[in-house]
Amino acid sequence: MTMTRQLNVGIVGARRGTGFIQPFNTIAETEVTALCDLNEETLRTVGTTHGVAKQFTDYEKLLEDDNIHIVVLATPENLHVPQTIAALNAGKHVISEVTAAVSLDQCAELVRAVRKSRTKYMMAENYCYLKSNVLIGNMVRRGMFGDIYFGEGEYLHNVKSLHHDSEGNPTWRYRWQVGVNRCNYATHHLGPILQWFNERVVSVCCLGTGVHTDPEYTMEDTVMMLCKTESGALIKIRIDMLSNRPPNSYYSLQGTKGCYEGSRGFGDQPKIWLAESGRGEEWMLLSAFEDEFLPDRWKNPPQEAAHLTDRLGDYFELRDFVDCIIEDTEPPLDVYTALDFTVPGLVSEQSIANAGAPIAVPDFRILD
Ligand SMILES: NC(=O)c1ccc[n+]([C@@H]2O[C@H](COP(=O)([O-])OP(=O)(O)OC[C@H]3O[C@@H](n4cnc5c(N)ncnc54)[C@H](O)[C@@H]3O)[C@@H](O)[C@H]2O)c1
Repeated sequence: MTMTRQLNVGIVGARRGTGFIQPFNTIAETEVTALCDLNEETLRTVGTTHGVAKQFTDYEKLLEDDNIHIVVLATPENLHVPQTIAALNAGKHVISEVTAAVSLDQCAELVRAVRKSRTKYMMAENYCYLKSNVLIGNMVRRGMFGDIYFGEGEYLHNVKSLHHDSEGNPTWRYRWQVGVNRCNYATHHLGPILQWFNERVVSVCCLGTGVHTDPEYTMEDTVMMLCKTESGALIKIRIDMLSNRPPNSYYSLQGTKGCYEGSRGFGDQPKIWLAESGRGEEWMLLSAFEDEFLPDRWKNPPQEAAHLTDRLGDYFELRDFVDCIIEDTEPPLDVYTALDFTVPGLVSEQSIANAGAPIAVPDFRILD
């Protein structure tokens, strides 16, 4: 690919946002040239550490800079939609952190803004680019598991320490992650699983455990969402950001000819079982299938990424985004995909409030 022009990147939200600096600077066509954060101290520290010269405390000022072409939104979840719309209106390409939106009204606003924009929008769902998830996806497409009909994802991460700032004031997470009783922050798990199934969720049922570890929070400690897909498959998502326990991120998959169970930590290895392996009921290490089933680009990364080892997935996510800008194609995690990942968690609020009643999940592709 020839470099037609330099695409300059401005990162907004300099905590999680710093994770985008190295992969964007690895890509020949892009360079992180600007940072924006309300917190001046964070801004200066991150800017100095990573050598990013342009620093803004005012997002509007960043948008006025014609020499910034891509905006990364790593700000609080409730700001993703208004900040995306402002950036698209300013002619910038946007890659937004998860989740895409915090309400159905925001989802509609986002879709309308993306439809009328000439620039690109992609969701930065990095778990879709985890090596194990990419590998399972490829094995599914090659029929190794037969017809798949059940998937599971769990995000167990006690982040109570992030719910108040150093002065004891509630943070955005207090309001938008654990301040509303629904299956919040489900995209890391629902996203990759929906890619395996290659379909969307049509209805959800959601129940919780009740509040046990701290009555301060509205969200029940563990929230469990059952998702029915278009074809009738079942996906179970467990989210827990409150219980006292070590973190874990878990996936599983069941098909007619095989199954997958990710690691539950403490030395456990991701494993699969395949009916046609001829090995009875013996599990096999998932890693043993990398040579045959990992996509070529993972086995032979492009020259520019040859020095990356454990951050290849982050690189591929941003490479895909930059390629869709250069080639004027649809981003792999476009606005509709972003909402397929996000909306089940939003409508689960109605289910949990109604004793787990099934709630239909709107498809924003058919929004007027
Ligand atoms: N994909 C992942 O693995 C992953 C991991 C962590 C966080 N996230 C997502 O990243 C986002 C940020 O999370 P975080 O943990 O960094 O949050 P954080 O609260 O630690 O940091 C957010 C930063 O944004 C800044 N900010 C807030 N409003 C702003 C505004 N209007 N303009 C400019 N800066 C503003 C804050 O000053 C702060 O420095 C969230 O959407 C979260 O869901 C994703």
